[in-house]
Amino acid sequence: MARILITGGRPLEGTVEVSGAKNAVLPILMASLLTEQPCRLKGVPHLKDVTTSIELLGHMGVEVSLGDHFSVGLDAGRLHAQVAPYELVKTMRASILVLGPLLARTGYARVSLPGGCAIGARPVDLHLNGLSALGAKISVESGYINARADRLQGARVVLDKVTVTGTENILMAATLAEGVTIIENAAQEPEVVDLAECLISMGAQISGHGTNTITVEGCRELEGFDYKVLPDRIEAGTFLVGAAMTGGCIRAVNAAPKTMDAILVKLEDAGARINTGDDWIELDMAGRRPRAVNIATAPYPGFPTDMQAQFTALDSIAEGTGVVRENVFENRFMHVLELQRLGADMRLEGNAVIVRGVDHLTGAPLMATDLRASACLVLAGLVARGDTIVDRVYHIDRGYENIEEKLGQLGARIRRLPAAAA
Ligand code: EPZ
Repeated sequence: MARILITGGRPLEGTVEVSGAKNAVLPILMASLLTEQPCRLKGVPHLKDVTTSIELLGHMGVEVSLGDHFSVGLDAGRLHAQVAPYELVKTMRASILVLGPLLARTGYARVSLPGGCAIGARPVDLHLNGLSALGAKISVESGYINARADRLQGARVVLDKVTVTGTENILMAATLAEGVTIIENAAQEPEVVDLAECLISMGAQISGHGTNTITVEGCRELEGFDYKVLPDRIEAGTFLVGAAMTGGCIRAVNAAPKTMDAILVKLEDAGARINTGDDWIELDMAGRRPRAVNIATAPYPGFPTDMQAQFTALDSIAEGTGVVRENVFENRFMHVLELQRLGADMRLEGNAVIVRGVDHLTGAPLMATDLRASACLVLAGLVARGDTIVDRVYHIDRGYENIEEKLGQLGARIRRLPAAAA
């Protein structure tokens, strides 16, 4: 498996371009299933999860074409399968997002259960309950979800927990249902809003997106879309944390600072000087060591769980002690054991980690376990003394486009190594 070698000690300085948001691209690619008209999505990052999504859609008969400037053409006019097989779903949980659109468009969908992952059990019961409320007949057997509906009926859906992809699945299904659907306790993430805006551009009647109550007036059919995805707030936040950890000064361009309030406030609490424009963010640490910050993850607009590992790494070398509490997933501290290998002083207590900042980390070989944990290990390598090698970087490639090129352009000493000899 490919590995990444980082030699620490350099501050991040310069300008970095933020890519399109992975967690908006994935549901919007699946939204192409809702129409027989051609669609085009622009600003698509080159990520493993995007490639997997394209493979999955192709498997169903969607014609996919790659255009210039990271654009993807999709034509779901002639579907020949409504199945998402285990071989593909097991590599990307977000495959579950084909369920709602397939069911709404064709009346049938057979999707492999995603199964658990490193950060938690991650069930999909809320997705299934919501689609059942819209009239779908759903059975689960031999690891597959089988869903049928002649035509979905609008209904009031109350989500027991805030679920991002659950909200997205139900939202997409509701656009073609008969009558009005109201989704209560809906996720408010910017990526959900971006999906809703794309659906509206297709002719869907949606209001309330970005709040906890989304209303959808179903219609018979939708047009294609020609849409540009919003910038990735988690990728941008990851680079900004790297600059804060290394005492650097960077400017993130093609960014969406308005979607990053909770992240930017915590970076200012850590001592960073932040300036923003409509589509750029500048962070200047002026060579200072960051101050430890306390984090408690929550659904948007709360602090994003996808930035928890990165701030745990920041606290590991900060001045003072920080408490990082993970309230969304039940096992999202796999990076703690790896950070301890670098000399971090942290201890787990229930769903929190108490981090006492040390004045330096020492490079070591590490193992990535999940997408955001692997990014946090790369950030730790930027400040550790000597060499850090992060193994299993396929996790990183799922969510970060050319991370070593982008960090290298900011002055980091980082390069990809071939897989270690067996
Ligand atoms: C989305 O995952 C993101 N993925 C995740 O990003 C992100 O961490 C997560 O939302 C939270 O913000 C995509 O958008 C593709 P949830 P999702 O459903 O939708 C429980 C990354 O790093 N739950 O909001 O799967 C669940 O177990 C990835 O880019 C149920 O119990 O997360 C969790 O505890 C990682 N039943 C909580 O809700 C369900 O049916 C929130 O999960 C669904 C979820």
